[in-house]
Amino acid sequence: MEAEKSSEDDDGPLIRVSLLEEALGIERIYVDYEGRNPTGTHKDRIARAHVEKALNEGYSAITVGTCGNYGVSIAYYARLYGLKAFVFVPAGYTLERAGEMKALGAEVIPWSGTYEETVTESRRFALASGIYDANPGSHPEVDYAGYSSIAREILLEVRPDAVFVPIGNGTTLAGIWHGFRGRASPRMVGVTTSFGNQILRTFYGDPSGEVAESQFNEPLVSEVSFDLNEAIKAVMESNGYVFGFADDTAARCAELLRITTGLLVLPASALTLAGLVKFVRKFGFRKGNFVLVLTGGVHGGESTGAYGGALSYNGWKNGARTRAVLQKV
Ligand SMILES: Cc1ncc(COP(=O)(O)O)c(C=O)c1O
Repeated sequence: MEAEKSSEDDDGPLIRVSLLEEALGIERIYVDYEGRNPTGTHKDRIARAHVEKALNEGYSAITVGTCGNYGVSIAYYARLYGLKAFVFVPAGYTLERAGEMKALGAEVIPWSGTYEETVTESRRFALASGIYDANPGSHPEVDYAGYSSIAREILLEVRPDAVFVPIGNGTTLAGIWHGFRGRASPRMVGVTTSFGNQILRTFYGDPSGEVAESQFNEPLVSEVSFDLNEAIKAVMESNGYVFGFADDTAARCAELLRITTGLLVLPASALTLAGLVKFVRKFGFRKGNFVLVLTGGVHGGESTGAYGGALSYNGWKNGARTRAVLQKV
């Protein structure tokens, strides 16, 4: 991947998914496809802003602790603007995107610890070395401003009634809500893994629970969610909800989205579709505009492909197959 300065991150239209509307009996479903961004995920919206801030403040290097997508994004924009990037990654993770980071000139530092410990180490390194700290929680105003652009773009096209967002640290959901505040008040619905997310546990008031990390739920596992309070506030203020799901649901939803939209979607983010199904079932809302925030990326393509044989295309056109798959959510 070559870094290109001219590209705007994402100014494309929402994609309406009539096949899913018919199958689910929901009035209007739109996809905000963040896979159009240069490195394939919504992380580009904040990575660019952090790199620009670092440059404006005179830094020559930037660091982040990441499980993958954010690291590629920081590496991409650092390359674009001529900064050195130091990307800390948990050594035990899949690290599918480490090659891309290196190809973009980043120094990749495997750290033996959890995601949270890796972020802490990157933060320590930033302080000790006097380089810009792009870690979650370090400059929340930059993160919220970056993700606010998703809300603004949605509002250019529709007034949403509910927006479904994948959550790990909760930064994306909190940022999108910041963008809606005072302009619109869709219900903010966070969707995550059932196996290791603090926002989910806090929402249900159950601090215990099993942690099980896999290549599918890695972006969503946050035993300590750095934007816990802001994310919970956004959900509560907007009268939203939080749902947790297992990996098999993520795989099914990614495949279904590929079939109904043609998009390669990262399974972790495909859970927004499962969130929509549960939300509609629970609250009975079927009228209005429902928006799914989805990401793509190299990981998305490969993960979706791995499940390519699991679902048959036969019958999806009349909605029967789609309904059958969604009944398992
Ligand atoms: C594809 C994808 N979805 C969701 C998330 C979680 O975002 P946040 O940590 O802002 O809640 C991430 C974070 O890495 C991600 O890569």
